[in-house]
Amino acid sequence: MKIVVIGGSGLIGSKLVKNLRQLDHDVVAASPSSGVNTITGVGLAAGLTGAQVVVDVTNAPSWEDKAVLEFFETSTRNLLAAGAAAGVGHHVALSVVGTERLLQSGYFRAKMAQENLIKASKVPYTIVRATQFFEFVNGIAQSATDGQTVRLPPALMQPIVSDDVAAALVDVTVGVPVNGTVELAGPEPIRLDELVRRFLSAKQDARQVVADVHARYFGIELNDQSLTPGDNPRIGPTHFADWLSRS
Ligand SMILES: NC(=O)c1ccc[n+]([C@@H]2O[C@H](COP(=O)([O-])OP(=O)(O)OC[C@H]3O[C@@H](n4cnc5c(N)ncnc54)[C@H](OP(=O)(O)O)[C@@H]3O)[C@@H](O)[C@H]2O)c1
Repeated sequence: MKIVVIGGSGLIGSKLVKNLRQLDHDVVAASPSSGVNTITGVGLAAGLTGAQVVVDVTNAPSWEDKAVLEFFETSTRNLLAAGAAAGVGHHVALSVVGTERLLQSGYFRAKMAQENLIKASKVPYTIVRATQFFEFVNGIAQSATDGQTVRLPPALMQPIVSDDVAAALVDVTVGVPVNGTVELAGPEPIRLDELVRRFLSAKQDARQVVADVHARYFGIELNDQSLTPGDNPRIGPTHFADWLSRS
């Protein structure tokens, strides 16, 4: 199959490209650095010629409310139009578990807009919603740091390592479109404050994590349902402790 991975140079994209090439698919790793830009449209039509599947694992360069919404709306519109013109039979996109519960944040309003555009288009699709990546825990800590204190709500979550996301995306990419949403999560539920505490401790980072039910997560009030998957997620096997000890 010819498969175009948009965002093929990113954290998930680069792993997905490698996995799909190992299965002998004809894979194009597309991103601005390789001459394909979903915002300007440069290289898009040529890149998609003959493609059966497009996987969108892009991310926005700015997460400022207006910029991120413009990015995901424009990028998704351009990609769906180019896909339809090229006769693409499956549009796969990576989104986030709980997006509709996280709309206090501009980032998630943008991801919701991306999902809605995909659902409204005529191109068959699968939306893959993952929980937070282990690799993102550092960013969570940074966002909640004030001096030597990291203040976070003790909300339940079920994070997953990027390798397991990329592995699941391979199966979705070579499978049939479900015209619906598939959820991915890690093997164990953990509270957000405890996850960051374990991460900082393993990195010998002296910052103290304080659990505060009123603290916000990227501007969002969380409860135990906000970040956790529904009844039937696909589970990535890698445990946080194993990832921490090897990374
Ligand atoms: N972080 C999490 O915990 C988490 C959890 C669930 C879902 N997700 C979702 O996972 C997706 C991928 O995240 P990631 O961390 O793998 O992203 P990333 O490492 O930041 O990579 C982003 C990719 O997007 C490309 N890109 C940026 N602007 C582009 C444009 N105009 N045209 C085409 N490509 C463009 C980049 O290309 P260049 O390298 O050329 O700039 C890069 O390949 C995101 O949509 C995110 O919402 C993330």
